[in-house]
Amino acid sequence: MHADLLLTNISQLATPRAIPQRGTSQGELAVVRDAALAVRGQQVCWAGPRSDWPGEAEREIDLGGRAVVPGLIDPHTHAVWAGDRLADFEARVKGESYEAILARGGGIRSTVRATADASIEELVTLARPRLQSLVRSGATTVEIKSGYGLSIEAELRMLRAIRELQREVTAWLVPTLLIHVPPTEGRGAYLREVREELIPLVAREQLAVALDVFVEREAFSVREAEELLDCAVRHGLRGKLHADQFHPLGGTEMAAARRALSVDHLEASGDEQLAALAASDTVATLLPGVTLHLGLAAGRARALLEAGAIVALGTDLNPGSSPLFSAQLALALGVRLCGMTPAEALVAMTANAAYALDLHDRGVLAAGRRADFLVLESGNWRDITYTLGGNPVSEVWIGGRRAG
Ligand code: NIG
Ligand code: FE
Repeated sequence: MHADLLLTNISQLATPRAIPQRGTSQGELAVVRDAALAVRGQQVCWAGPRSDWPGEAEREIDLGGRAVVPGLIDPHTHAVWAGDRLADFEARVKGESYEAILARGGGIRSTVRATADASIEELVTLARPRLQSLVRSGATTVEIKSGYGLSIEAELRMLRAIRELQREVTAWLVPTLLIHVPPTEGRGAYLREVREELIPLVAREQLAVALDVFVEREAFSVREAEELLDCAVRHGLRGKLHADQFHPLGGTEMAAARRALSVDHLEASGDEQLAALAASDTVATLLPGVTLHLGLAAGRARALLEAGAIVALGTDLNPGSSPLFSAQLALALGVRLCGMTPAEALVAMTANAAYALDLHDRGVLAAGRRADFLVLESGNWRDITYTLGGNPVSEVWIGGRRAG
């Protein structure tokens, strides 16, 4: 076997064993000691105990006894926005709720006003350092949603900003069209315009791979979301949902029945919602940054895992509910706030997060998968789930090249 590059002296190489499957145990990591990892082009061509390496390599790098894990996959961000939510933050700290702020025209609506006024260039300039921060913390693939545009033109501007960022940011970016909040007037006409103009155009120009809808009292009903998801699927887009953040309205069950890629948030889910997810291939994506920042209940990871659901973790990086600029910290909070084991959390933010984005070529370090991996500062893989506030990631490799 011939490799371009052989990384040696890896004290622990920790990787999920396989892409997820509903009903199978998800805490399972393979931990290889004194390992080596071989890269050819953008892919891993071999991984295993150093003494078993069967080939030769163009170049060899000694990692000095550090640990290697797959690159983190952040399956839920709103990394493109303008303006800030600092006044909202202070109002919330003083006792006003997130939903009340939104209902009086603040919250998401204030970010919509600021974002709708920004040019593509301004949006790119604002988003670039946020994404660089996610990459430094170990993210090698990042989903980014639109949703602060509202008008068709402003939504398209957001998606074009994401396309521009795809050209210049080293991480692999996955764009999602998010229908976030309805306009204050002309709701029916707006939804028609989304179905008849925006979704077909986004699909035609491949500006997004999935459609996401926020189902909540202050946002869209289950019925409205259902029509949007069905329309998206007819145009070749996959579906996703923000659901059960404050009230379990039935969106989770609707999305799981439609084989949506994921349902995200789930802070207020009850047993019925968890059962619907456990009986489907739809990923349950938990967002511990929201739990921390808004003081909501944590998503019920233990119940989901025990019922056999596929669970992922994301940062939900956004200015209102989760100003969390570190993928590694989302993982570490998944352990603290959602009660996941270190192994479950690492699987959730690698293989399972890849599955939530319909990406089947990454998230596992094995021959034929993308060579997206992290070299940690220490020799123990658990450090990526343990550290709070520092950065345990020493090197970020994306597609076989060192990115940071
Ligand atoms: O995932 N809940 C809805 N959407 C975002 C928050 C957006 C915002 O507050 O700006 C979320 O939490
Ligand atoms: Fe979100």
